[in-house]
Amino acid sequence: MWQAKEIKQSLKGNIFGKQIHTFDEVGSTQDIAHTLASFGSPEGTLIIAETQTAGIGTSGKNWVSPPGGLWFSLILTPTLINISQASGLTILIGHSLARVIRKETNLPVLVKWPNDLYLNNKKVAGILSESSSVEVAVKYIIVGIGINVNVDSASLPFGATSLKSESGKEIQRMELLVKILEAIEKDYLTFKVTHNLQLFLKEINEWSLVVGQKVKVRLPDKSIIGYGQSIDEQGHLIVELEDGKTEIIIAGTVSLI
Ligand code: BTN
Repeated sequence: MWQAKEIKQSLKGNIFGKQIHTFDEVGSTQDIAHTLASFGSPEGTLIIAETQTAGIGTSGKNWVSPPGGLWFSLILTPTLINISQASGLTILIGHSLARVIRKETNLPVLVKWPNDLYLNNKKVAGILSESSSVEVAVKYIIVGIGINVNVDSASLPFGATSLKSESGKEIQRMELLVKILEAIEKDYLTFKVTHNLQLFLKEINEWSLVVGQKVKVRLPDKSIIGYGQSIDEQGHLIVELEDGKTEIIIAGTVSLI
């Protein structure tokens, strides 16, 4: 069971984890975070659970959350970041996550744009970013992070894996959580100043599962096939089409072909 006191004592940052809500079992930490944010919970509030019975993934999918994983949501209140910049921030958070996992586990995690983490072509972590805004101004963003840490792959959906399954080792979840929160806080503070991904772009492109690959991108109105050329400083995916033209993807679902 997560202990708020223990997490707080380990954290070195100034924003994240000043308020922590821990649960043994919840429906979804994301729903709790929305409620807390709408009642004015401060920036950096962390909601973490041992298990979720109704974990939410992207596109309304279910997120399987058995014991042994890291399932948490963070409340961000980034004044001066507008809604079009919020997707760049989510890409940055995915990158922070990949960097910490690579460093702590030595596993060669890659990021499938926009922000799914993969190991050996199997999904190991995902981010669900949901924002509330007034016109173009962001009121708050709830960043939900799910990492299959010490979870048995047999209890995960087909195509998913865990850090433990890939490394053959049990991972210290508390240490990983603290490192992740510290890294996200630091990168977030940088983003609040720069409003773009320029400082991170080299690694973002290097660790991308789709850059340099033939991809199919599903957009709301059509699908395109092309070559993943790069990720730009706004976090958009640049796809080179077969006729040599390029398309800038702001949001879409990518698959490798
Ligand atoms: C994805 O589909 O890739 C995103 C998965 C996000 C899962 C996390 S687990 C913690 C938080 N609570 C939820 O219900 N979902 C997010």
